[in-house]
Amino acid sequence: MWPQAVIFDLDGVLTDTAACHYEAWKQMAQRENLYFDRSMNQQLKGVSRMHSLEIILRENGREGTYTPDKMAFLAGWKNEAYQRLLKDLTRQDILPGIAAFLDQLQNAGIKMAVASASENADTVLERLEIRNRFDYVARAKEIKRRKPYPEIFLTCAGHLGILPKQCVGIEDAQAGIEAIKAGRMFAVGIGVEVRTVRPDLELTSTAELTLERIVRGGRDE
Ligand code: BG6
Ligand code: MG
Repeated sequence: MWPQAVIFDLDGVLTDTAACHYEAWKQMAQRENLYFDRSMNQQLKGVSRMHSLEIILRENGREGTYTPDKMAFLAGWKNEAYQRLLKDLTRQDILPGIAAFLDQLQNAGIKMAVASASENADTVLERLEIRNRFDYVARAKEIKRRKPYPEIFLTCAGHLGILPKQCVGIEDAQAGIEAIKAGRMFAVGIGVEVRTVRPDLELTSTAELTLERIVRGGRDE
């Protein structure tokens, strides 16, 4: 039977926390008198917290002007603002089609994991009330080489005890698709703006996710 496991990205696949990240970064930018807008926020999709801060500073022509201590302080400050915003997240914020898709995978005996760059993944999953649906949730802090490297997806496959070629990865960011393909897994893209590597199956919305579509996509490969 193929696939034997499905490994999900979180932000932009299971839920859309981009608005919360935007609001928290906006508050940090105001505090620091930095410019920040929604198009800059787009560049932060799938990108780690510290790397996001580096991008904001670069866009403001302030690259290299902050000490590592100040950078760590600001990243922490943003995270506290983000965590306050997460308190309003509920199961209503699960993206369309996801609940039915998780049921379908569970009924088919397919294992499930979450491979998110977010150190808040457990909190978000708990707020959505779906934490216990997953056999494994990767700890972003323990991942040395983040997406586009395949480490986080391979770590999930290892914990599930499933070979990469038996796994499907689902992502909304280009770096995530690169990570899945580098891990030699089948990649499903949700609304990915393809610039480099193409997903094996391209969907525009999570509402289109079904096991049949993936199995059919795998056969066409
Ligand atoms: C990714 C988001 O999932 O997690 C990014 O797409 C975010 O926008 C990154 O910066 C890190 O999240 P956190 O919760 O650890 O700051
Ligand atoms: Mg994402």
